[in-house]
Order: sequence, then C-alpha cells, then structure tokens
Amino acid sequence: MIRFDFKTYVEPFLDEEKYKKYMSQKKEILEKFNQHESIGWTKKITDRKIKSILECRDEIKKHCNCLVVIGIGGSFLGSYAFSKMFDHYFFKNSFEVIYAGTTLSSQYLEELQEYLMNKNFAINVISKSGNTMETEITYQVLKSLLKRKYSEEEVKKRIIITTNMDSGPLREEAEKEGYTSFGIPRDIGGRYSFMTPAHLFPLSFHFDIEKIISGYYEGRKLMDQAYEYAVIRRVLFDQKKQIENFCVYEENMTFFTEWLKQLFGETEGKKGVGIFPVSTVHTRDLHSLGQFIQEGNKIVFETFIKVQESPYEIPYGKKSLHDWNNQVEDAVMKAHFKGNVPCLQIQLKERNEKTISSLIYFFQLAAAFSGFLFGVDPFNQPGVEVYKEEMKNNHK
Ligand code: PA5
Repeated sequence: MIRFDFKTYVEPFLDEEKYKKYMSQKKEILEKFNQHESIGWTKKITDRKIKSILECRDEIKKHCNCLVVIGIGGSFLGSYAFSKMFDHYFFKNSFEVIYAGTTLSSQYLEELQEYLMNKNFAINVISKSGNTMETEITYQVLKSLLKRKYSEEEVKKRIIITTNMDSGPLREEAEKEGYTSFGIPRDIGGRYSFMTPAHLFPLSFHFDIEKIISGYYEGRKLMDQAYEYAVIRRVLFDQKKQIENFCVYEENMTFFTEWLKQLFGETEGKKGVGIFPVSTVHTRDLHSLGQFIQEGNKIVFETFIKVQESPYEIPYGKKSLHDWNNQVEDAVMKAHFKGNVPCLQIQLKERNEKTISSLIYFFQLAAAFSGFLFGVDPFNQPGVEVYKEEMKNNHK
C-alpha cells in the first residue's frame, strides 16, 4: 500500500489559484497522454513474453554463474536501481548479475575483463536504438573476451540482445548470428521501459517477476495521485522552487533516486523549463546538504520516500532502530518545513517487489503528466543527441 501526503508540509506554500488552474487542465492533459504514441508501457505485457524471459533465464542458469548486463540511461537504470535496492550490504548472491556500460573508464573495463576471466558468464546487451556509443564499446570489448574464452557454439548461447523489434545494428546482428533476442516495442522509450524484457530479463535472475508485474499494474490505480503530484511540482516551479530533492532513508535506495533523476531530468528538461532533480540519502546527507536545504537559498522543495516497516528489527532503547530512522525523518520534514521548504511525502508500508513496482508506475505517470504540464514532449530527449553529434564531428 502506498500513501501520499501532499498537504501537511506543502499546502501553506501553494499558490491556490495556480493549483486550481493546473488541476483544471486534467482532462486535456489526460487526452494528450492517451493519444501519445509512446504510452505502450501502460499496456499489459503478454504471457508469451513472460514465458520467453523465464525460459531464457533458465537456459542461461544451466551453464553460467554470471550475467553481465550492458546498457545506459533509461534502458538499464530501472532494473539496476531495483536490484540494488534489494541487494544485501555484505553478502553476494551465488548467481551474479553485473551491470556495465555506463562508463568509458579504461580502468573499469580492464578490471572487469580480468574479473570475468574466472567467471562463467553470459552477456545481455540492451539498447533500443542499437547504436549508443557507451553500450556499443562495452559490448564489443566483452564480446571479444567471450570469443577468446569460449567456442563459437558456446558464444552463441551466451549473448542475449535486447533491442528494438525491427531495425538497427543489434537487431541485424541478432538475426545474422542467430543470437537469442528480445524486442523493445516501438511505443515504449528507454526510461519508460521497466515493463519490458530490457528490465524484466535481468531482474528475473533474483526476483519473482510475476510479483513485479502485478505490482506495476497496481500502480494504474494511482492516476489521480500522480496527476496531483505533477500539478503541485508545477506550481512550486512557478513559485521559484526549481530544484526537487528526492530523500530516501536507506543507503541501498540510492540508485532508486538515480532512476528518478534520470526519469524526471530527461522527461522535463527541455525548451528552457523543468525541475532540476537532486537527491539525498538520510541521515548521511543531513550532515552536508541538510544545512543548505534548511537555511540556504530557497530554491528547493523535497519529496520524501518513507518506508514504514522493516524486516530488520534492531532494538534501540524502547524502540526499534527502524522507528528511530522514521522518527528522524519526521523531524527532518518538520524542520525543513519551518525553514520554508515544502516537503511532499510518499509512504510505503513495506519495501517489496510489488510496492516498488507500483511506485515505479506512479512516478512514470507523474513524469509524463509533468512533461505535458510544462508543454514539452515527455517521451523524447533531443538534448542527449548534442554531445553525440560533437563526438561525430571530432572524428571527421
Ligand atoms: O530514457 C531514454 O530514452 C534514454 O536514457 C535511453 O535509454 C538511453 O539514451 C539509451 O538508449 P538506447 O537504449 O537506445 O541505447
């Protein structure tokens, strides 16, 4: 269950007229949303697709103990953030999933190859376009390693390509070489592709994806809350609160905030508008950015993601440590509110596959609505192309 409090620490700041104005645009925004060609992520994933994901996972598990997932941006951050969130801090799973492809660091790639020399590994390369530079470079380097380690027949079993359905270099390669492949539907873009094999296949190694899928579609019920969240953010933006700080209370949720930054940043940041997303992990960052937020430039508002219950019960005095953690957060919200920082709150009863994937659907809806409220296309990212063009020019 997810609860939202967009009132207690927000209402006194909100410009009532603006709130009403944006709320009254709901019908029009929903129409734009429903007519957009990129909302394939709201439709049900087919049983056939789920079956093929699970079959491929079982096949890989038969002869490997490690999967290297290669991708960047929205096409990979969802599953990375999700799996990080449930990772143990000190213990490793016997089947290892390594995420690579987000860096051109030579040290990283050199060490990764060295590490993989002693692993029995397969590769899942994910790129909707099939021509993203970082993904391409990492893939080529690791494919060479596979070819040095294994026979041609073995290599064939160890490469899984996830790309668009019908064109591009990766699709062509999958067809030419006979590699197993998954398709990312035309009507689903990278950061909205959580409910596709791009994320579900890597997640299937450690999670019950049926639970992830059912939780995700539960998120459909949160349409009204997602719209109101988008509206409040839009009003705050007009009131010069142009930075949103996502606050989490658990270190391993750090990458969930990275996913949020990617989702909102690429969705809204166009045509000179958009809220700049940042994040803090508490209580750690209360001893750094906490000072700025409390008493510095009043350009920030915050969204707190609170998890009510924890399976880990460490008694501390008359309470559990988790209660302490939550109480600190209540205190932080009160304090920041007193410091003129609006604080929105999203509360999960517990952190599990279902609640987190509902939350993912909620945020995807909110980001999309927000794009329309800002008057931009929520589903493209033309600005990302600019540095790629520069790279091409450098190599002419
Ligand atoms: O959210 C997005 O659409 C982007 O972040 C893409 O996922 C990212 O640029 C990678 O693109 P591709 O999947 O084509 O390699």
